[in-house]
Amino acid sequence: MEAATTDSRGVLAQENTAKREEIVELLKHAYWMEIETVMSYIANSVNPDGVRAQEIKESLAEDIQEELGHAQRFAERVKELYGVVPGSEEFGAEQSYLQPPEHQTDVVHVIRGVIEAETGAIEHYNRIIELSEGVDPVTQDMVTEILHDEEGHRRLFEGFLREYEAEGLA
Ligand SMILES: [Fe+2]
Repeated sequence: MEAATTDSRGVLAQENTAKREEIVELLKHAYWMEIETVMSYIANSVNPDGVRAQEIKESLAEDIQEELGHAQRFAERVKELYGVVPGSEEFGAEQSYLQPPEHQTDVVHVIRGVIEAETGAIEHYNRIIELSEGVDPVTQDMVTEILHDEEGHRRLFEGFLREYEAEGLA
């Protein structure tokens, strides 16, 4: 990684190089999580069948741009911290729970998968926020905003799941 600056404070200071590199690695992982979420949400906004699936599909379709925006923000922050945004060959899929279900009418599978993806993001982003405490307020603010989006999205899907459970469908 390039030497940063002659700053004496903050994440770009020489003495915080190790910390900066650690934050960059977590930001790269966050970037991949967002990219995979975009792929999963595109598939799950198209695949499901049935009347009940429509609302879920529309909600996921709307969220794709937001998740793509998150990926772009993580990429930009990696660059600002003197890292390099990884190429596609470094991608490794993790969202086993968001693969297409056996039956495309299985909307509950999709809802549970979305909740699990958002939970993974929420845990990872909380980790970045903790790590940036006291050293990188810009990353901390940015990730806090993104965390807010993920928490709101998970809450929405928990509401969908509750409705299915109330009707004995989940
Ligand atoms: Fe996101």
